[in-house]
Amino acid sequence: MHRWFNNPEATRTLMEQRESFSEEEARAWVQRAATTDGEDRKYAIEVEGHEEPVGFTALYGLFCQTAPELGALIGDDVRGKGVGRRAEALTIAKAFDEFGAHRVYGRIPAYNEAAKRVVTSLGWRHEGTMRGHLRRDGGLADCEVWGVLPEEFRSAAADLEL
Ligand SMILES: CC(C)(COP(=O)(O)OP(=O)(O)OC[C@H]1O[C@@H](n2cnc3c(N)ncnc32)[C@H](O)[C@@H]1OP(=O)(O)O)[C@@H](O)C(=O)NCCC(=O)NCCS
Repeated sequence: MHRWFNNPEATRTLMEQRESFSEEEARAWVQRAATTDGEDRKYAIEVEGHEEPVGFTALYGLFCQTAPELGALIGDDVRGKGVGRRAEALTIAKAFDEFGAHRVYGRIPAYNEAAKRVVTSLGWRHEGTMRGHLRRDGGLADCEVWGVLPEEFRSAAADLEL
């Protein structure tokens, strides 16, 4: 966790960026992530051949009247190899099958092409744009809202044999 949040290449495209992230903060983050009593669930991404997890996915705001939001961070150098697509698909499947979500959505910085490619391949649609929503690099960036319904996800992810 400490390694991932201190990797500028990985955090460049996140919605929220931290000024710093200490080992102590990382330890507390992992402890919170492992609890199952709140509305969020976090999952480590394990890849064959890698001794440690390479990143995580998250579902934020489960068990509410509003749909949960998907989060993902591949913190190690395995981006662009299909890991994100598979990890996000497994997490979305959990949202629908295990937690009974009626929809999953995400806020994505408009310049995050990789994230948009992944969710598009999983049946998501671009539903709107929050103009200038993000303070970024001394300026403002647009934030896109994307979402998916269960049947759209199922047909788009059929090839993944979830
Ligand atoms: C977004 C993220 C989870 C995707 O995971 P990944 O393992 O890199 O994704 P995949 O390899 O499954 O797919 C990436 C897709 O984006 C494309 N891509 C990658 N970088 C790109 C870029 N700079 N511009 C356009 N497309 C890009 C790849 O070609 C691939 O598309 P394809 O399958 O159509 O060829 C990962 O890159 C990541 O963690 N990024 C940093 C954190 C982040 O941005 N999280 C999401 C916040 S909204």
